[in-house]
Amino acid sequence: MTVHYDDIQAYAAAYTSPESDLLATINQETHTTLPGAQMLSGHLQGQVLMAFAKMIRPASILEIGTYTGYATLCLAEGLTEEGVLHTIDSDVRLRERILQYFSQHKRGKQIAVHTGKVLDILPQLSRTFDLVFIDADKKNYLTYYESVLAKLNPNGWIIIDNVLWKGKVLHEAGDDKLTKAMMDFNNHIKNDSRVVHVLFPVRDGLMVVRKK
Ligand SMILES: C[S@@+](CC[C@H](N)C(=O)[O-])C[C@H]1O[C@@H](n2cnc3c(N)ncnc32)[C@H](O)[C@@H]1O
Repeated sequence: MTVHYDDIQAYAAAYTSPESDLLATINQETHTTLPGAQMLSGHLQGQVLMAFAKMIRPASILEIGTYTGYATLCLAEGLTEEGVLHTIDSDVRLRERILQYFSQHKRGKQIAVHTGKVLDILPQLSRTFDLVFIDADKKNYLTYYESVLAKLNPNGWIIIDNVLWKGKVLHEAGDDKLTKAMMDFNNHIKNDSRVVHVLFPVRDGLMVVRKK
């Protein structure tokens, strides 16, 4: 019997709790008004991120790549009462939209929105983190990973999106630089003795890393 990956993902989504009304609105408005809506984490992955955040109960979260704030709000569900979530995106056109979405969420006041390039904002963040979600600018994943690992508390977690890269990591990369970068990134983590890690085949692949 051959089972197709998309069918497994659809079945998993069907047996996963539904999105909140706010998440459903963000999902729907993103798809009807913006290009690149496939970037949004979406129902299944959003609920997975929410589950991780609720298990970890972080006091400090960093998200690299806000887009329309879908994953931000999923992660924020796990924040402690006094916790803070920092999220970074370079697209200034998204800022008002995400602030408006965040204002409708119970943890909205605990979210700090940074508009600018990751490499400009990261050095300005002096605090350490319990949970980091890396989801922007795939060619710089290795740089972001090393930068945030230095800011991660012991036993802190990093979740990295798109590590399956639409299945392209299973084959020779050839001249495809982004596929090669993702393969190199996955190998870097595999050989990194500072961490333990597990690759979840959810949507486009989530690498879940814990700092020893
Ligand atoms: C995949 S989307 C993020 C999706 C979001 N985390 C979610 O799950 O709904 C990637 C975002 O990263 C932003 N981005 C890309 N390169 C960036 C950079 N160098 N610095 C900051 N943001 C960047 C893009 O503007 C885009 O909104």
